[in-house]
Amino acid sequence: MEAEIALTVDGTQQSLAVDTRTTVLDALRDHLGVTSPKKGCDHGQCGACTVLVNGRRVTTCLSLAVANDGAEITTAEGMAEGRQLHAMQRSFLDHDGFQCGYCTPGQICSAVGMLAEAKAGWPSAATDDLTAEVELDDTEIRERMSGNLCRCGAYANIVAAIRENVR
Ligand code: FES
Ligand code: FES
Repeated sequence: MEAEIALTVDGTQQSLAVDTRTTVLDALRDHLGVTSPKKGCDHGQCGACTVLVNGRRVTTCLSLAVANDGAEITTAEGMAEGRQLHAMQRSFLDHDGFQCGYCTPGQICSAVGMLAEAKAGWPSAATDDLTAEVELDDTEIRERMSGNLCRCGAYANIVAAIRENVR
C-alpha cells in the first residue's frame, strides 16, 4: 500500500509517495537522494542512520516514513549555513573525529541532539545526581553517545570534538 507524505528535509519541503513499509532512512536515501544518513546495521544498533526529527535524534532505520508525515528533518549535510560549517562539524574536523567517515553523519546528528537533551536536564545511565544540572564530563558523553558505533575506533577524538561544544 502506498501513501503520500510530506517531509521537510534540511529546510526543503518534499512530497513523496512511499510504500507504507518504507523507513525514514530509505525515504531519505532512496526517494530523496539524501545520502548522509548511512545504513550500517538496519537494526537500530549502530547509529549510522541517526538524524534529528523535530529536533530529537532518531535512528531512522527503525522509524516508518508514514509515521513521520509532516516532520522536520535535519541531517548532517543540512547543518551548515551555506559554506559556514556547524560548530559540531568544525570540531569533528579539528579533532580528527573520523577516519573512513561512514559513521560521522550519525555521530554529528547524535551529538547535537545529545547536547540538547542534556541542556533540557535529561539524565543518562551515567548520571549520579538526578536533581542536579547535568555535567557533561567524558563519562556522560560516552554513555550518551553509546548508541553510535564507530568501526574505525575514532572514539577518543569524537569525545574531544563533542567536549569542545559543551557549554
Ligand atoms: S542503520 Fe540504523 S542503527 Fe544501524
Ligand atoms: S570513522 Fe569509520 S566508522 Fe567511524
